[in-house]
Amino acid sequence: METTDANGVNGTHPVHSFSPKLSSVPQGDFIRHSRKTNGSGVQADDTRICVVMVGLPARGKSLIAQKAVRYLHWLSIKAKVFNVGQYRRTATPNPSAEFFDTSNPEGERLRRAAAEAAVADMVKWFKERQGLIAFLDATNSTKDRRRWIQERCDQDNIETLFVESKCDDEDLIMSNILEVKTTSPDYVGQDPEVAAQDFRNRIRNYEKVYQTIDEDESDLTYVKLINVGHQVIINRIQDYLQSRVVYYLMNLHIKPRSIWLSRHGESNFNLSGQIGGDADISERGELYARRLPELVAQSAGDTKLTIWTSTLKRTIQTARFLPFEKLEWKALDELDSGVCDGMTYGEIEEKYPEDFKARDDDKYNYRYLGGESYRDVVIRLEPIIMELERSENILIVTHQAILRCIYAYFMNVPQERSPWMEVPLHTLIKLTPKAYKTEEERMPAKIPAVSTFREKGSSAKHQEKEEGGD
Ligand code: SIN
Repeated sequence: METTDANGVNGTHPVHSFSPKLSSVPQGDFIRHSRKTNGSGVQADDTRICVVMVGLPARGKSLIAQKAVRYLHWLSIKAKVFNVGQYRRTATPNPSAEFFDTSNPEGERLRRAAAEAAVADMVKWFKERQGLIAFLDATNSTKDRRRWIQERCDQDNIETLFVESKCDDEDLIMSNILEVKTTSPDYVGQDPEVAAQDFRNRIRNYEKVYQTIDEDESDLTYVKLINVGHQVIINRIQDYLQSRVVYYLMNLHIKPRSIWLSRHGESNFNLSGQIGGDADISERGELYARRLPELVAQSAGDTKLTIWTSTLKRTIQTARFLPFEKLEWKALDELDSGVCDGMTYGEIEEKYPEDFKARDDDKYNYRYLGGESYRDVVIRLEPIIMELERSENILIVTHQAILRCIYAYFMNVPQERSPWMEVPLHTLIKLTPKAYKTEEERMPAKIPAVSTFREKGSSAKHQEKEEGGD
């Protein structure tokens, strides 16, 4: 990826890094002022950012916005998409392309009203302190429209970060058009070919007035993503949270692809009910390892995959028959259970009863003595998520807690639920990110295994499962 930093080139507006909390400085005006003038001393909690999407239809704006919100939620940062199309649909649910022609005054009026309603709700959302980052998902394709949004946000001390998705890769545009015609609420119940043609005409109407972000707007904070993943132009990034969003966007691509997830085959520790360790896979785990290539072929066809495992024996042994390039990641090792490593849940409850209860009370935040919490795991998995976003078709063979965290990222599972999700052994999961949601398929190998799922409050030994599948 080629990265151009417009600030770095002229050196007048350096990208600022996050400064530690200014505990001795009174909050309020000083902090607000300093954000505007020097970009330092900003506390994440004090920041409000409106990320304004810019671009023609079918340039992946909704996908980018949805993904970024999922990522921020995963990092415990409250964020929300305000989609102007959704507001417009209350008055005009199924418009034809003419509605988007700028010489159609009624269409213009209704579209402006939808944008105003979305911005008003967004400002209210910030005022009620419901979140830190809002994504205004619309074309915002003219300079006038962008200036209006910026001035409106300024009135309420909301920072703006414009994100333009420019794309001339015909294959990418086509695949977006195909997806929109089958999934957009605008075309529900319509013939897919008629829908695709109408959508192309809609794009043409937008093209007539579209203005890319250029030098006239050099006072704006913006990122231009050119053919998402190929080139990035960054201008006037002002603080830590903005740079965090930009860093994520820089790693994205929107080519169609899937991600496959599997736990290792049943291990000898699974059989004895012990947690952690570096045990070999059991005989049934070995059967799963041998079955996995067939299961993957059924699901992925001829697609070439790359296999990621942890550095622990049970994942490497499970993946060893897969006919693809393999990469071992320390970051994919199982959650570190510290002093409890190698113990059964029964032993932990007996030896550390208070800790056992504390973990049940708040499993996401509980950190094993000398080990990790789920929250710690999410932090160590961030580079994995970035690399996953940059990659195409990947199969990850890993461990229960790690898989829960990766799955939670793709499926937007809240923190209070993710550590309690059941992710069975001997099951291949396929995730396919789409514009509006991630599709999921589960393929049980039908090879028996114990269930390592532990319900809240239970210290029972792992139970035998008939099918080892779901
Ligand atoms: C829409 O009405 O679908 C979106 C309006 C826009 O972003 O221009």
